[in-house]
Amino acid sequence: MIRTHQTTPFPDQKPGTSGLRKKVRVFQQPNYAENFIQSVFDVVGADLVGATLVIGGDGRYLNREVIQKAIRMAAAAKVGRVVVGQGGLLSTPAASNLIRQRGAVGGLILSASHNPGGPDEDFGIKYNIANGGPAPEGVTEAIFARTQVIDRWLASDTPDVDLDQLGEVAVADMAVEIVDPVTDYAALMECLFDFDAIRAAGLTVSFDAMSAITGPYATEILERRLGFAPGTVVNGMPLEDFGGHHPDPNLVHARELYDRMMGDDAPDFGAASDGDGDRNLIIGRGRFVTPSDSLAMLAANAHLAPGYAGGLKGIARSMPTSAAADRVAERLKIPAFETPTGWKFFGNLLDAGMATICGEESAGTGSDHVREKDGLWAVLLWLNILAKTGKSVDQIAREHWATYGRNYYARHDYEGVESERADALMAELRGSLASLPGRQVAGLTVETADDFAYHDPTDGSVSARQGVRVLFQGGSRVVFRLSGTGTSGATLRVYLERYEGPDGDLDRDTGAALADIVAAADEIAGIVRHTGRKQPDVIT
Ligand code: G6P
Ligand code: ZN
Repeated sequence: MIRTHQTTPFPDQKPGTSGLRKKVRVFQQPNYAENFIQSVFDVVGADLVGATLVIGGDGRYLNREVIQKAIRMAAAAKVGRVVVGQGGLLSTPAASNLIRQRGAVGGLILSASHNPGGPDEDFGIKYNIANGGPAPEGVTEAIFARTQVIDRWLASDTPDVDLDQLGEVAVADMAVEIVDPVTDYAALMECLFDFDAIRAAGLTVSFDAMSAITGPYATEILERRLGFAPGTVVNGMPLEDFGGHHPDPNLVHARELYDRMMGDDAPDFGAASDGDGDRNLIIGRGRFVTPSDSLAMLAANAHLAPGYAGGLKGIARSMPTSAAADRVAERLKIPAFETPTGWKFFGNLLDAGMATICGEESAGTGSDHVREKDGLWAVLLWLNILAKTGKSVDQIAREHWATYGRNYYARHDYEGVESERADALMAELRGSLASLPGRQVAGLTVETADDFAYHDPTDGSVSARQGVRVLFQGGSRVVFRLSGTGTSGATLRVYLERYEGPDGDLDRDTGAALADIVAAADEIAGIVRHTGRKQPDVIT
């Protein structure tokens, strides 16, 4: 029943920040998905035999097809049981939860996150390990090495499984269990948060699922279990192409929600999540909360939720994320960790019990309840905090800044830059690091400049060249790095931050507060000179 298929390597199967992401057309090449999946299985090896493997995706174009392939290949790899979300659907945090709850060896998550979907758009495959988190670099490197020498893949000669039928079937010697994708996840959320308090608070909410995976989750949790009015969830039906939109919950792609939240008829709370359900956008009536601030505010108030009533062990953030959370950690007298971009770096800290809450500027927040960032989790924690304090998002934000000071923050993205140009910019920047301290730029004085390297305190591993950071006197900062999640050309990300103490001007327009740092960034890195771009494509 098991067949061996000859193949040859593809040179471009190196996983990026979050798994292998390519255009659908690339994945549609014969053997392409199979080579990658087989490489994962070859690296995991004997641990797969008889084990449980979770498989699911965000429902984008190609999801069902690749799931069928993965099931046949898992059977050939002698996996004991695969657990698949009904319809092939599992949000990334729900997949992480399922891996943990089932004691699975790992999981395959099919998604390209917030990238658009459809025949001409993006697809992705990510391997998560037994703790429920993305495979660490050592594993992804081994997978890549395997893709470069692979010469065969194995699959059972069996027909497609009906992914829509709940229950269990056999594929060769393996059990395939189709489960409701929402049930276990919703139960976990009920343990962490005070659903009664949220129900009783009488809040009004708008949640934009962006025609992506969180629709069914949000409808069940917000409308059915928490009793928010029907219609609270908008764009709640997952579509293969996300309705032709970017399922990226930021101020550009969730503009309608933003406009609504700034209008006269705004509900108390607005939120959105991305293609695979791990990102979040938080907007109170009249108040957008940056992801960096959201992390800090959630950490400062997390004790109001039952799941965190015992306090936090530590707070972790990625390096480009603002330092707002560090100030909360300082006050709570708990450690603050600074990791490279990529959720996988939080896994060790969470596993070691060194951190409880983590977050990234790229709209990711989460905790030790799973090993992925979790969009709906952030929404529910905010709702729990609003319900318990009786305060508005705007009030929480203002009081937070009055206590800790405010980190004005923005990210400028230059998308689709020619790779050689982007590489030249970074190379020149790295070459200039030693000469930067003491230099005056746009009225600011450079204090220090370096290329961030992370020393993982749990296993001693070192991840170098994780982004150039330039610190100015007075606590302002600019960080430069190239995105690791794109599928064509390069995206230059420029992260801008200015700290204003509790007694400073806390009510400025962010653009104005950062103008001199924007000018300094261009002068230091030669953005216009290298990229030919006068303006960023996206400001978040
Ligand atoms: C994904 C990862 C995040 C990361 C983000 C941005 O969402 O899960 O951990 O922060 O991509 O990565 P990039 O390399 O594009 O800046
Ligand atoms: Zn995502």
